[in-house]
Amino acid sequence: MKIYSPNVKIFDDDSDVDKYASSFVINQVGSKPYSVITLPTGSTPLGMYTLLSDAYSEGKISFRFSIFFNLDEYWPIKKSSPSSYYYYMNTNFFNKIDSPCSNRFIPNGEANDPNLESEKYNNLLDKYGESDLTVLGIGPGKTAHIGFNEVGSDYNSKTRYVLLSQETYNTNLKFFNKKEDMPIGAITQGISNILNSKKIILIAKGANKAWGINRVINGHIGTDAPASFLRYHPDVTFILDKDASEML
Ligand code: PGA
Repeated sequence: MKIYSPNVKIFDDDSDVDKYASSFVINQVGSKPYSVITLPTGSTPLGMYTLLSDAYSEGKISFRFSIFFNLDEYWPIKKSSPSSYYYYMNTNFFNKIDSPCSNRFIPNGEANDPNLESEKYNNLLDKYGESDLTVLGIGPGKTAHIGFNEVGSDYNSKTRYVLLSQETYNTNLKFFNKKEDMPIGAITQGISNILNSKKIILIAKGANKAWGINRVINGHIGTDAPASFLRYHPDVTFILDKDASEML
């Protein structure tokens, strides 16, 4: 399989990371209003969502025709839980823009059967075809996950129910009020869904991403660092702050 060198952009300032990332979304939607865009959650893209919402409020862009897919969602989790990605996306982005509910898709954390829900989500992704743009974060430390594709996730993986790694569980526990509230699993788009996108950007900030970024860009490609499969894609841009790039 052909291996590509990703574009790597490094900024001193976190706000420039946000600006550069949001420019990809704005250019995409500006040139093709009905674009299919896959979006992440986490602390990293919050600045990007603020800039995108601001661009909408200032009348610079409309998201009316864009189709949004989320990368992942915990399972099981109530949509009303402030820790759900459903809640995150609505609060941080969707409620601030003109995207109709019918154009946004997030795996259903309330579904009875996560395997069936994953199959439905794959079918929906297939129905819309490849994403025009996929925006990713990356897991901290040695997880190097994209979505919830933890260590061991294969190149061919599709949307499926997965167990969180111990490291991811420990990192994300702070987003839940009580330990009992935190699911041990999630529904995530697979590596093959992610690679089936015309263009991919990955945003990383902070020193806890430096090992993963270097591993993914300079290490071998394999299931022990699932984000390394991005090097099989011809159009990937890593958008990094100084700290995240310090081991390159
Ligand atoms: P973060 O999460 O943006 O909060 O660091 C990223 C991830 O775990 O994928």
